[in-house]
Amino acid sequence: MKLLMLLLSLLQFIYAENLEEKWGGLWPFQGIATFAHLENKNCLIDQSSQFDIGIIGVPFDTAVSYRPGARFGPRAIRDASQRQTSLRGFNPRALFNPYKSWAKIIDCGDIPVTPMDNALAFKQMDEAFNDLLSKKSLNDSKVPPRFVALGGDHSVLLPHIRALHKIYGPLNIIHFDAHLDTWKPDKYPSFWDSDQNEINHGSMLWKAHEEGLTSKTNIHAGLRTKLSGLEDLQDDDEQDFVRIEADDIWLKGPEYVVKKILSTVPHDTPTYISVDVDVLDPGFTSGTGTQEPGGWLPRELIHILRQIEGLTVVGADVVEVAPAYDIAEITATNGAQIAYEILTSMVKKGNLDESLTKKMISTFGSQL
Ligand SMILES: *[C@@H]1O[C@H](CO)[C@@H](O)[C@H](O)[C@H]1NC(C)=O
Repeated sequence: MKLLMLLLSLLQFIYAENLEEKWGGLWPFQGIATFAHLENKNCLIDQSSQFDIGIIGVPFDTAVSYRPGARFGPRAIRDASQRQTSLRGFNPRALFNPYKSWAKIIDCGDIPVTPMDNALAFKQMDEAFNDLLSKKSLNDSKVPPRFVALGGDHSVLLPHIRALHKIYGPLNIIHFDAHLDTWKPDKYPSFWDSDQNEINHGSMLWKAHEEGLTSKTNIHAGLRTKLSGLEDLQDDDEQDFVRIEADDIWLKGPEYVVKKILSTVPHDTPTYISVDVDVLDPGFTSGTGTQEPGGWLPRELIHILRQIEGLTVVGADVVEVAPAYDIAEITATNGAQIAYEILTSMVKKGNLDESLTKKMISTFGSQL
C-alpha cells in the first residue's frame, strides 16, 4: 500500500514536471507583464520575500509642473520590457547577462500612492522605501537589497534617497535630465505657500540638498533647460552639482562626458543614478511631460551608462515616462532599456561591499 502511494506521488510529480515543460515556454509577448518577465512578489505585503535587486513601481504624478501622466509609467515600462528575458538577456555591450548571474532580481509591484493628497502620498512613499530598504539581501544578509524605481514623476526620487540616506549617509547623485531640478520653490509662479507646495518634480533635488541627503560630488548630465537667468546656475552651484550640457556630447564627445562623470563622482562611495527620460531628444521620448528639443540619442545614453558601470550604485530610478503622449511605445522601450543597463551594472559589479554599509551605519547610526 505504502509502495503504491509512493508510486502515485512520483507519477504526479513527473506529470507536473511535464506540464511545466509543456506549457511553461511563453514567448516574449505572452503572459502577464512583470518587468522582464521576472517573478512578481508584492514586497510591501510579503515580508518574507527575499531577493537582491527589486524593481519597484511608483505610479505618482501629481507633482508635475506641465503635462501629467507618468502615473502610467510603471505599467508602460513593464509592457515595453517584455523582450528582456533570461534567455535573451545577454547584454552585448557589457558581455554580461544580469538575469542569469548571482543576483535574484524580482518585480516588487507598485507602491499604492494616492493621487488625491500629496502630503499623504509622500508619507506613503517614505514609509514604503523605508520598509523595502529594511530588508536583507538574499546574497548577503548584512546588506540591504537595492531597488530600481520606475516612475512616476521625478519627485519620487526624494523618498527613495531619504531612505537610502539613513543607511549610507549622503549620496552622490548622477542626474540624467534636460532640466536642473534644483529649483528653489520660489522660482515657480505662485505666491501661495505651503510645505507640500515646495516639493515638485523640478525642486526635489533642492529639497534633498536642504535635507542634507546629497554629497558634495553630484552630476547633471544632458542639460538644455531654459533658465530664468544665469543666477539659476549659481543656485545650482551652491547645491554641489557639476553640469554637463546636452551639446557637450557632440561638441566635446562622449568620452568627455564619461571622464567628467568619473572624475567627479568617487567610484567607491554610495551613488544614486536617476534618469529622467527627457534627457533623450523628444524624437525618442514623445511620451514625457516636459520635452526639450536637442537631446541625446538613446545610443549615447546607453554608452555612457555602460562606461560608468564601475560606480557603487546603491539605488536608481527611471522616471517621467508618460505613455499617453508616447508614439509606438518608443519612450517606454527606451525607459525599459535604461533600467536594463542599470541592472546590468548593478549585478556585474557584484553585491554591495558589506564594509560600505557597515562604515556608513557606524557613521550615521542607522537601525539597519
Ligand atoms: C553573492 O554575490 C557575489 C557577487 O557579489 C557572488 O560572487 C556570489 O556567488 C554570491 N553568493 C551567493 C550565495 O549568491
